[in-house]
Amino acid sequence: MGVSTTINGISVLVCDTAEAASEATAKLIANQLNANPRCVLGLATGGTPLMTYQSLIAMNQSGQCSFQNATTFNLDEYVGLAADHPQSYRSFMNDNLFSKIDVPIEQTYVPDGLADNIAEHCSQYEAMIDRHGGIDLQLLGIGHNGHIAFNEPGSDSQTKTRLVDLAGNTIEQNARFFSSADEVPRQAITMGIATILKAKQIVLLAMGSGKVDAVNAMLLGEVSADVPASFLREHPAVTVVLDRDAAAGLGIDTTRKMPTEQQTT
Ligand code: GLP
Repeated sequence: MGVSTTINGISVLVCDTAEAASEATAKLIANQLNANPRCVLGLATGGTPLMTYQSLIAMNQSGQCSFQNATTFNLDEYVGLAADHPQSYRSFMNDNLFSKIDVPIEQTYVPDGLADNIAEHCSQYEAMIDRHGGIDLQLLGIGHNGHIAFNEPGSDSQTKTRLVDLAGNTIEQNARFFSSADEVPRQAITMGIATILKAKQIVLLAMGSGKVDAVNAMLLGEVSADVPASFLREHPAVTVVLDRDAAAGLGIDTTRKMPTEQQTT
């Protein structure tokens, strides 16, 4: 199933392929649902979680896990896009997960990109997570510049749900989902680093050679706002799931058959 190791306090699982990494991530989420059917899940968008969601849909449809009593909170949403805009993160979640599983849609929360009073909406979102008892398992991807959710470089560990400006390279990366970079919104509402770190368990999935630098910086670089994902090293229960390509810079021997424990300090 892969090689597991520990790097700077973070459990790292390296799988042979992106499919295997996605399957392993889906199993962690299904295990959470089976251990506590009323759990609160933090969910992510982007290309990375798509195969994980497909696995979860298959598991849900074959009765291996149920979302019926679960509640979900998404990490972020573009400002200025209506919920039914095809590129809104609400549409992404409805199309790629919620409409295909048994979760009641009223138990799914995504920030409102058209909120009149964004600051108030952000504090209500934060309060809503708390009212549900906090997030049990938070799924994350990672941006090429080390961002998590839309916490761009410069975001410190105390940040909460708030309005942010997107970095130029994030706009370029996400332009692939729009007809041109000009159409990518310049701002977003995002959970903060502190919001994410309050989750009881965090699973970050990264796949492909394009994520090597971000993964290295997160696990091996300094813990700093320059690489927001590095703050995950301050959390006691983080699992980073990688495919071999994303793990290429970590020096892990992925030919070993048995899981191994390595400590890098
Ligand atoms: C987006 C999202 C993040 C996501 C990241 C990586 O901008 N806000 O939550 O993890 O970029 O995206 P991808 O998975 O498409 O590489």
